Amino acid sequence: MGEAVAETVGERFRELYGAVPEGVWAAPGRVNLIGEHTDYNDGFVMPFALPHTAVAAVARRDDGVLRLHSADIAADPVELRVADLTPGSDKAWTAYPSGVVWALREAGHEVTGADVHLTSTVPSGAGLSSSAALEVVVALALNDLYSLGLRGWQLARLCQRAENVYVGAPVGIMDQTASACCEAGHALFLDTRDLSQRQIPFDLAAEGMRLLVVDTRVKHSHSEGEYGKRRAGCEKGAALLGVDALRDVPYAELDAALERLGDEEEVRRLVRHVVTEDERVERVVSLLESGDTRAIGPVLVEGHASLRDDFRISCRELDLVVDTALASGALGARMTGGGFGGSAIVLVEAADVDTVTKAVEDAFAAADLTAPRVFEAVPSAGARRVG
Ligand code: GLA
Repeated sequence: MGEAVAETVGERFRELYGAVPEGVWAAPGRVNLIGEHTDYNDGFVMPFALPHTAVAAVARRDDGVLRLHSADIAADPVELRVADLTPGSDKAWTAYPSGVVWALREAGHEVTGADVHLTSTVPSGAGLSSSAALEVVVALALNDLYSLGLRGWQLARLCQRAENVYVGAPVGIMDQTASACCEAGHALFLDTRDLSQRQIPFDLAAEGMRLLVVDTRVKHSHSEGEYGKRRAGCEKGAALLGVDALRDVPYAELDAALERLGDEEEVRRLVRHVVTEDERVERVVSLLESGDTRAIGPVLVEGHASLRDDFRISCRELDLVVDTALASGALGARMTGGGFGGSAIVLVEAADVDTVTKAVEDAFAAADLTAPRVFEAVPSAGARRVG
């Protein structure tokens, strides 16, 4: 994210709004290394930031008007009044930035309007948190401009509230926290119960490995339907077991807990995924901290099997990436994000990048599927001011 991008975005802002922006901010998308569907169970996650970002040029207004424009959508700026922002009223892309303004104001922060110009390089619908990046970049810009003094994790909470209540998607806290708090060269070990965090050094290149992201091009949608059903099933499991959240079921007591769930087969599978997934996150953290990076490969594969067989949110294309990558020499692979499409991650030796990439591309072609998009993910910086 260089000065050149900030300048181009600032220039476009000037054309649109006839004044220079007060600043330019960037917030990244993310991939999740391990810890899937654990965040709304108060569990552990381990995302890292992508180099792809949403970028916002912003200036304050004091007349109650919010103007929003996206370079990625061919339309004039949308004009709204901050006092009129109402949850559920906006079904367009503008719900993400305006939801953030709503959440800030609802929390008592005096935001009196803004002109916003946005652009993003985070692929949308690919499970890489393009919406969280949009939310966080706007939240950070307004935090700076209105001197709100909020920390990264607080901005993440407000962005999650915007998405849950204003947009109406029942997501957890992982994506917004990843975008707000990740650091370059690190994965973020996050406890989603209290948002305590530890930056875990994650420099695969230094150890001769790479992490590939494979976007299957299958569009996922979790604001409705399956995501909410899984979440409700997990809440039912916690209630049946008499705990606040599934995070409170210790791994060592999993068998006893499953026994207690009796013939609630569906709930048993959800519980088993969440409890084993939390344990996998802790295992990956300790492997990385002890320098045994290659050994995380099999843990990623276990995580995929659990999401496929117990949580049942994989799909043919994601399974094809994982199976093909492993068969062609990858160290590990799994789906990442909400599921039902989107992206998979593949851990490979640097020397095997081309072989594994070609094997996956060939497998998609042979199955008559849209060609996947494959790129290397380098753990990058979290949200920041860039101009
Ligand atoms: C989506 C949600 C996150 C998280 C993941 C699954 O990305 O936005 O909160 O629940 O799915 O781990």
